Amino acid sequence: MKAKKLIEVALPIKEISAESVRDNRLAGGNIRTLHIWWARRPLPTCRAIVFASLVPDPLDENCPEAFKYAVEYLLNVGLGKLHYKPYKDIPYTSIVDEMEDNHRNRLMMFVGKFSEKCQENMKAGKSTPPKEQLDDWSLIKWENKNNPKILRIARELIFVAYQSDKRPDATWEKLHAEFDNLYDAIPKAETALYELKDRHIETDKVKKLEAELQTAIDAFQNEMPSVFDPFAGGGAIPLEAARLGCRSYGNDINPVAHIIERGSADFPQKYGKPIVFTKTEFDKLYGEDGQKLAQEDERITFDGCLYHIPNRLAFDIKYYATCIIKKADDEIGKYYPKDDNGNTVTAYYWVRNAVCSNPSCKASIPMLRNFYLCNTNKNHIYLKPNISGNIVNFDLIKGKYSSSELKEWNHHGTITCPCCGSVTNVKDIKSQSREFGLKPKFYGVISESDAGRVYSVPSEKMKNIINDKNIECIGPEDYMPQNDTQNIKVPFWGFKKWKDLFSPRQLRAIQTFIKHFNDIKGVLLEDEYNKAVIAYLAIWIDRIVLFNTMFSRWNDTSEKIQHVFGRQAISMLFDYVESNPFCTSSGSASNQLDWVLKYIDSESSLPFAACFANSSSGDKLQFDSKNLTAVVTDPPYYDAIAYSDCSDFFYVWLKQTLGDVFPINFSTPLTPKIEECTAIKHRHNGDENEAKKHFENKLTDIFDAIETQTSDIVSIMYAHQSTQAWTTLCNSILGARMNITGSWSLDTEMAGGLKTDKSYLESSVTVACRPSERKGFADFDEVKHDIRQLVKAEVEKLYGLGFRGADLLTACFGQAVSVFGHYKLVETAEGDPVSVGQLLEFARESAAQALLEGVPGEPQTKFYCGWLQMNGMKECDFDDVNKYTRVGVNVEIRQLQSDKLLITEGSKQHLATAEEHVGSNENWGTQSTDYMISQVHRMMLAYRMGNQVQLLKLVRDLCPQSDAPQWRVLDFLGGHLPEESQDYKDIKGILASAEMLRQKCKDTAVPKVGTLDFED
Ligand SMILES: C[S@@+](CC[C@H](N)C(=O)[O-])C[C@H]1O[C@@H](n2cnc3c(N)ncnc32)[C@H](O)[C@@H]1O
Repeated sequence: MKAKKLIEVALPIKEISAESVRDNRLAGGNIRTLHIWWARRPLPTCRAIVFASLVPDPLDENCPEAFKYAVEYLLNVGLGKLHYKPYKDIPYTSIVDEMEDNHRNRLMMFVGKFSEKCQENMKAGKSTPPKEQLDDWSLIKWENKNNPKILRIARELIFVAYQSDKRPDATWEKLHAEFDNLYDAIPKAETALYELKDRHIETDKVKKLEAELQTAIDAFQNEMPSVFDPFAGGGAIPLEAARLGCRSYGNDINPVAHIIERGSADFPQKYGKPIVFTKTEFDKLYGEDGQKLAQEDERITFDGCLYHIPNRLAFDIKYYATCIIKKADDEIGKYYPKDDNGNTVTAYYWVRNAVCSNPSCKASIPMLRNFYLCNTNKNHIYLKPNISGNIVNFDLIKGKYSSSELKEWNHHGTITCPCCGSVTNVKDIKSQSREFGLKPKFYGVISESDAGRVYSVPSEKMKNIINDKNIECIGPEDYMPQNDTQNIKVPFWGFKKWKDLFSPRQLRAIQTFIKHFNDIKGVLLEDEYNKAVIAYLAIWIDRIVLFNTMFSRWNDTSEKIQHVFGRQAISMLFDYVESNPFCTSSGSASNQLDWVLKYIDSESSLPFAACFANSSSGDKLQFDSKNLTAVVTDPPYYDAIAYSDCSDFFYVWLKQTLGDVFPINFSTPLTPKIEECTAIKHRHNGDENEAKKHFENKLTDIFDAIETQTSDIVSIMYAHQSTQAWTTLCNSILGARMNITGSWSLDTEMAGGLKTDKSYLESSVTVACRPSERKGFADFDEVKHDIRQLVKAEVEKLYGLGFRGADLLTACFGQAVSVFGHYKLVETAEGDPVSVGQLLEFARESAAQALLEGVPGEPQTKFYCGWLQMNGMKECDFDDVNKYTRVGVNVEIRQLQSDKLLITEGSKQHLATAEEHVGSNENWGTQSTDYMISQVHRMMLAYRMGNQVQLLKLVRDLCPQSDAPQWRVLDFLGGHLPEESQDYKDIKGILASAEMLRQKCKDTAVPKVGTLDFED
């Protein structure tokens, strides 16, 4: 019998979560910044999950001896002073709790360990800067992604785990020597090849050295496990599997994803390598422009004879992109005039105009969201309306305006006319937009100067250039999806084709870039290396396109352009900026180039590339039976993102740039839709059931293929809250003859702001699965008992680790399914089969009950929670005594009514909202002797009113510690209130800021209003 893998037993989830949240904020060199893709997994999570799916639990009785020795030797078990020594006192638990110094804990500390400083801070209730949270020796720390010492340890542990599984008799000493041999051959072969002069010329010597390097890489990787991601997306998981030295494979059905994957985890690792050029060759290839570039880059050295270039791929891309920018600027730079002071313009600010519906007014109303062009801490500049009759003009004013002196007139698309006061509602505006378009007018100029940003109103001369009607342009004629109410919403406003997202000037600019790109493509040799160069230039052009639409927003607080995909959707925007591709600021071509180069530079040191297929997964012939060691994947989250619809935004341009270089990938008119594994309603005539069926069938087919191809573990990350989405996922796992053997909740997303509204979780749940043997039939009552026990233990554990709300409830699904999945069939006492949906509802209820058990003493709060659990917020007839027995609390109904916890209307009753309960008495809920539910409701109202001082005071006086019962009550309510209710949104906001509230409330002086970092 094989040992369990680490992922089935233990994971340092707090540490992984901390670094993953940090990863989402990292900029240059992070995989997210190469090219946008939706729902990317953070690299620390991927690295940890891949690693933990490949190494055994060293405390398992079946763990190979050689692996235990490897842990002992490489992580120094028993030698107390070294880096991976477990915590003396686990920092995030409230009791003093020493972690045993054993092999498993050493392995956990190797994956991720909090730094000494962070441990101290945690105990003192202080925060630590993200960069300093993890110890410098942690595998998952961002700074270690290219650390040769740490990667060597990780790769050797994986090598020994894999080999000792295949060859149980092999000793640690033997495996250690084999590893050294195979591993050290790679850098030797790399040095020999990369030191060779002019290796770009395919001489026999170059071919020989290239072959020797490939042989060394293959010899090593043939002895390493294979890892496959059937939903590779932007390529994060395959990138991490390759980083750990594995044979790494990824599939994605989407051609745009495929190009991004290759740019992320294939090309830099193969081609981003040093090269030495003789002067003659260098001059021949790059001429004077190349010499200039080489001089500007301090990493490039020239000794009079030889150029030493640290990254050939990055240099070539920079060289060709710089040529393209120059040629494009020569041709169309005239369309991007400087401002009156000769400053280069960053962006031209436009506002769409609607017509007032009052027939006697008919003013053309600019639909600004607010009047600020700049609204930073230091600087305020706004466009002050200057109204004469029904004509609206603007003056540029330095300073702030107050809402009493200047009323904003655009409220989510409904306009109050500033000339006559009539209201034109958003429906009318939408039909105007569909019928005639909302005419954009040019109102502001944002320029770059040595002293920072400069704002001005456009001169007549500039207006004439900008409004030039004779700009020749063509754009992609392909249609956007016309009935997608979730992702691509602009067709409802009359923007039907992809080209409609761009102004003529933008189209002309993009075409010009593509034209010069094509010229360069024409002269490059058709070999694999040059294909990579071309692919990056196309990725770079995609980035230019992304920032050059009529749906790019000007962020007046950060003074930057925000591209069209702020979310995974394209929504209507009433004011937008046209960026100047030839400036140097956020939207420019040179800025986009920097992002591409930073990524290539940061991922080129690895020798191991991943291998990607652009096809729908589920092909049983793709891999031989049990040929993959592990699958680590992150399937689409049900209906949350329509990948193919969103990615068509890029596809229509990539067809033009890469269609002839990768003809098979770009052979379809738009990205493939039918085979995409998502539950997108509008692809099934709006039929939700059909969409669900499609998703479940596809997912089951794909899991079914994986089950036959994988020898060890299938680890699946999933980040959707809804029970329905989880039901489909679990049905597919069970339907593919697997069962869940481990389940972990990891914080992987940006910490939620106050008003986030996402259907996917702030944390994602990772389940580890294995092929399972089903043992006949079971009675649901017995299964329920087991599930209750397991879920209760899990809730306590996760609660202690800081998981809350829906994340916590969802994390328990894995436990419930693991019990269920042991049986062929689970039946009720009446002999009816129990569905996964019923099971998950039961698991959710068990988790909620486990949480409720933690709500201390006082019956009114228990009543409120129990009633909510049973009846929600809906109206009920109030005579069902059984309901009280289930809640299990003794309360006087009259008392509840006079306490305003239960609202009676005729013969109906409903549970009071926060406003109904404490809204009429401002003292209720402010004292520690008040009902806990009143205290919690008071916090919610304080939050709702934006009264941060009161909220902090309440936290300080009532619940300054994370284990205070008020937080449990909030969690409970958050797991049960209807998502559309205001109460739910307030709770979500409070919980998202809980850590920060608890920290800030300890400051002796509670901060002034407005100093908390709440999102608006
Ligand atoms: C949640 S995303 C993966 C994101 C990825 N882990 C990352 O970090 O970028 C799911 C991916 O599954 C892909 N997909 C959907 N249906 C597919 C299918 N039938 N075969 C292969 N890939 C598919 C989508 O195109 C999308 O890129």
